[in-house]
Amino acid sequence: MTEIRGQWWDTLLEKTVFFSFTNLGYWLRRPLWKTRLRDYSLRGRVALVTGANSGVGRGAAEGLAKLGARVYLLVRNRQKGEAAQAEIIRQTGHPDIHTVVCDLSRPGEVRAFGAEFRQQESRLDVLVNNAGILVHERQETPEGLELTFATNVLGGFVLTAELQPLLRAAGGARVIAVSSGGMYTAKVEIDDLQAATGPFDGVTAYASSKRAQVILTELWAEKTVSSGVAYQAMHPGWVYTPGVKRSLPGFTRIMRPFLRNIRQGADTIVWLSVAEAAGRESGAFWFDRRRRATHRLENTRNTPTEYETLWRCCQELGGVEVR
Ligand SMILES: NC(=O)c1ccc[n+]([C@@H]2O[C@H](COP(=O)([O-])OP(=O)(O)OC[C@H]3O[C@@H](n4cnc5c(N)ncnc54)[C@H](OP(=O)(O)O)[C@@H]3O)[C@@H](O)[C@H]2O)c1
Repeated sequence: MTEIRGQWWDTLLEKTVFFSFTNLGYWLRRPLWKTRLRDYSLRGRVALVTGANSGVGRGAAEGLAKLGARVYLLVRNRQKGEAAQAEIIRQTGHPDIHTVVCDLSRPGEVRAFGAEFRQQESRLDVLVNNAGILVHERQETPEGLELTFATNVLGGFVLTAELQPLLRAAGGARVIAVSSGGMYTAKVEIDDLQAATGPFDGVTAYASSKRAQVILTELWAEKTVSSGVAYQAMHPGWVYTPGVKRSLPGFTRIMRPFLRNIRQGADTIVWLSVAEAAGRESGAFWFDRRRRATHRLENTRNTPTEYETLWRCCQELGGVEVR
């Protein structure tokens, strides 16, 4: 059973992009949704949101807290994390919020964090791989990884691999990758994952990393089919966040009145964490609570061999093996 009414109207909005990705899209679709987030509960469940001190991640953490989950805010700066933690507790009245620190662009640090977290918790019901960046100059991590790829792709991959035992133990866990509508413009340049050849274009590197998240979501679903974990990718639309303001100042200035707020941007993340419909299928791409196509252009398709190469590279560069 679908959880939205009036699919033709939703489909029409999607074709326009502007009336879909903006806050207008949110307001026009909201009446179609059959459930409200407050109809659900995550009491007794454990959630971890990356990049939770700011923007969309902050909105998701707050939404999950409202439903009663124990929420871990994974941040790279403890001070920022603790400030967000205090604010979420104040706004929701839910005290079970915790800050954990890890730089996702450093695979060794993510592996160490995973080992520590496995000692701390026995289950993980919701993992939101949200942290992401868009930078305009090529930068390398100390391991020699290009920063966009290391943060947006590898960080979430290694974290998901490290937390497998907890996800599998939860029974019906959800892993949600926060991708972007920008991925519709890109395919993954498998031979140049580190964007090392030619002039660096931050927007292209970002779009490609967001495409990689969608591909990896499909592969997680396929390769761990018996794990009982549902893997989903989604995009939040255009959201007014510190990240978008910093990375795309011109776009933000022009579009400001039409940008979603963080609660609107995070709505589908929270819904995917708890709605029954989102647990029934795995490996899908979602926006505004509806499954969406993963391609709008033919030249954005990678081959099955390239999918496998991406998976292998992530395992090798991340120092993890998924079984
Ligand atoms: N805003 C939009 O319109 C939009 C549209 C499509 C997709 N998205 C996606 O939504 C996600 C969140 O973006 P946002 O707009 O909310 O941006 P944001 O406000 O900058 O939030 C990004 C978060 O990621 C964290 N982060 C960055 N690098 C990290 C690292 N190496 N280790 C750990 N945490 C790290 C940031 O921490 P610091 O605060 O310490 O930097 C911050 O908490 C991203 O994946 C983005 O691609 C956003």
